[in-house]
Amino acid sequence: MHIPETGRSREEIMQALEAYKAGDLPWKSGRVMAYVYDPGREVYDTARDAYMMFLSESGLDPTTFPSAMRLEREVVRMIINLVRGDEEVVGNMTSGGTESILLAMKTARDWARATRPEITAPEMILPRTAHPSFHKACVYFGIKPVIVGFDPVTFRADVKAMEAAINENTIILVGSAPGYAQGVVDPIEDIAALAEKHALWCHVDGCVGGIHLSFMRKMGYDTPPFDFSIPGVTTISADMHKFGYAPKNASIIMYRNKELRKHQFFACIQTTTYALINPTVMSTKTAGPMAGSWATLNMLGESGYQKIVREVQEATDRLVAGVNAIEGLRVLGKPDMCLFSFTSDEINLFQVADQMHRRGWYIQPQFSTELSPYNLHITVNHSSVNLTEALLDDLRASVDMVRNSTDQIPIATVREQVNALLTANPENATETILAMGGISGTELPESMAMINTVLECLPDPLAEDLLIGYLNDLFQ
Ligand SMILES: Cc1ncc(COP(=O)(O)O)c(C=O)c1O
Repeated sequence: MHIPETGRSREEIMQALEAYKAGDLPWKSGRVMAYVYDPGREVYDTARDAYMMFLSESGLDPTTFPSAMRLEREVVRMIINLVRGDEEVVGNMTSGGTESILLAMKTARDWARATRPEITAPEMILPRTAHPSFHKACVYFGIKPVIVGFDPVTFRADVKAMEAAINENTIILVGSAPGYAQGVVDPIEDIAALAEKHALWCHVDGCVGGIHLSFMRKMGYDTPPFDFSIPGVTTISADMHKFGYAPKNASIIMYRNKELRKHQFFACIQTTTYALINPTVMSTKTAGPMAGSWATLNMLGESGYQKIVREVQEATDRLVAGVNAIEGLRVLGKPDMCLFSFTSDEINLFQVADQMHRRGWYIQPQFSTELSPYNLHITVNHSSVNLTEALLDDLRASVDMVRNSTDQIPIATVREQVNALLTANPENATETILAMGGISGTELPESMAMINTVLECLPDPLAEDLLIGYLNDLFQ
């Protein structure tokens, strides 16, 4: 494709873009049970207009666009207050949970370099339930991930294992509030106490839960503690573009104090270019997310968020009970907020996800790990609260359909086939394995069950290689 010789009309462009969206998930439907956080028409429209008002204002240099910094400071302070930070606590807006986590980990590494220079091979101790972005941070910043387990019934981090893993290279302990997969909050008080005892950095990943859980706490729900009221907590990430219901790309990274945060910043005046000073990863950036978050917080207010949280929690309770009541399904752990997952020992859940897709739902598959079976994940957001019965009806029908189907894909059999292929021809098994999953070229198969089953059966490093290779082909 080339840049068109002459420009196209606005009408033509808009039509073409609409057409491009045809294959996207219908996020406004309330039937997409991951990725989507929809505050409703009025708030959405206002946040979008606010975003567009600041689309071209640059967050690069606060002396030129003080509005961008003002919006950021006000949004950050509102969230610091929500997570019970005092006046010492500071923060910044970032492009998302991943950037918040990357920054916190880089900052912790540079803090350790400054305060414990004898450490040359820093280590981070994290439960297997922590988000993959911590692993990304380890790769980016040269930190060794030391993965510990969790209680296979409650899915809460094994703090004893964390303590046992501490050595002279440890710099960071991680806990989630909650972990995405099962919506379970780690024992943050214990993790933070351990960090304090050993003078370590304690990051609480509140990307998905920091805002929602804080409102639950204020409303009197039985909520596990996770915020700055716990002394040993060093940093918290909380995403505006998840349960803050703001437009993307908006997350907050918060530090116990400025002394720690200063290791996050970057300045350079050594080049012929302007003096560069960046608080976060991006340099030039739109102020749109700041304005969109500011508008969302101000329009919903405490009462608006509390109404959303109440309705979402009621819907989650109905869904968790409903899923547990379906024969052959069981919810994993006891979710602390509105995310959960369920597994089955009887049928192939990847086929159930496909069946749900045919009925207009998106339910996210998650693969097995040590201590956790494979499962399907559900995130409940406000646009789904009136669809719980419809979802459960379709789930029941999908489970029945798979159970009674003559085309069942038994995971154990696929595992045997994959293992046989890997043993017979370890070098060249990839193409055959992809073909088994119905993948040829860059086209996705209509049904994802087989490729998901194949991925479930592959060793992790091989599955990761395969996914990277596939993505590398997709982005031509
Ligand atoms: C617990 C948790 N942490 C971090 C992230 C990363 O956030 P993002 O996708 O905004 O980069 C996610 C995303 O789902 C998450 O659930």
